[in-house]
Amino acid sequence: MRHLITLDDLSNFEIRQIFRLADQMRTNLATWSGFCQGKLLATLFYEPSTRTRLSFESAMERLNGRTLGFADPHAASVAKGETIADTARMVTNYADLIVVRHSFAGAARVMARYANIPVINGGDGSHAHPTQALTDLYTVMARKGDVKGLTVGICGDLLYGRAAHSFALAVARFGGNLVHIAPQVFQMPDWVLTQIKHLYRQVPQETSHLAHVIGELDVIYVNRLQEERLPADVDPETARSSYLVNADVMRDAKSDAMIMHPLPRVNELSYELDEDPRAAYFEQSANAIPMRMALIASLTGLEELILTQPPAREVSVGGTQCGNPNCVTTFESYLEPEIETHVGEESIDSCAYCGQSYPNTTSFEE
Ligand code: NCD
Repeated sequence: MRHLITLDDLSNFEIRQIFRLADQMRTNLATWSGFCQGKLLATLFYEPSTRTRLSFESAMERLNGRTLGFADPHAASVAKGETIADTARMVTNYADLIVVRHSFAGAARVMARYANIPVINGGDGSHAHPTQALTDLYTVMARKGDVKGLTVGICGDLLYGRAAHSFALAVARFGGNLVHIAPQVFQMPDWVLTQIKHLYRQVPQETSHLAHVIGELDVIYVNRLQEERLPADVDPETARSSYLVNADVMRDAKSDAMIMHPLPRVNELSYELDEDPRAAYFEQSANAIPMRMALIASLTGLEELILTQPPAREVSVGGTQCGNPNCVTTFESYLEPEIETHVGEESIDSCAYCGQSYPNTTSFEE
């Protein structure tokens, strides 16, 4: 049984296999339509969502499977104090697959530990959003052939944006060159930079102004400001002004650049670009369906064909408590600290739940 909690749960080969399957599903849906007949997908959404939940539900229904779940945690037992572990044990009896979104970093990993069925992370706090990153990578590969060698600018709230974290790690892993564009206080957090540097041997270029680098970019990946996670003293309009993407800014961009956005957009990406052939954000949200269909099929029946060998992970239990106040281990007291050693060109340690570096040398800003 396999889970998808971060992209580290899949090898590059497996990711390409899932993309190949998504291609087939996109072009020949009828062949696959009965694939999940009699299977149930539980969508447990403790945080708001439009695209992720609906596209998972649509993907499951297109495979003739069925869905159950909640989108309002106030209506679920968590409102009575139920732990993630107990909810996971319960849902194991009700479904064949879980997609979970939660505001705690690492919540999906807890679900995976206690559920006896595959778990997909639909976004956990400011940590990761692996299925969005798969959709994004798939969209870049579909338009550009490959990510390798492309210059990919990621702009917006890089500090709190989980889609930005997972996409940056995916781009570095597949050989793209990263440019991080954000006001200094919203720059990419250290734990993501540490992984990019030590595992993929890259030091991304950083700038506060999109205008300074726009002409170099093959991909312009815009993110909204995560206002629900912002400290109260930050003015959103001022923060947004340095990476606003509009027709004026795009005049200096490459003629074949791609404009991407995980959506929803909130004043950082102008509607005047929607008809621009470089706009790829609606294509991105459309690609979410075949990609999520392929992922569901890979986890619930095609494991042996599509998923070969899980990447080796080294995790040790015990030790110092993670210092990230938004880490699930801070909230769910039955969890012991777990430290993952990533073995790349150089080994690095991080909290296995929320990804923050160990030992922690910076202040936590989540
Ligand atoms: C993203 C998310 O929830 O992290 N949305 C999505 O899933 N497409 C991005 C965001 O909310 O900004």
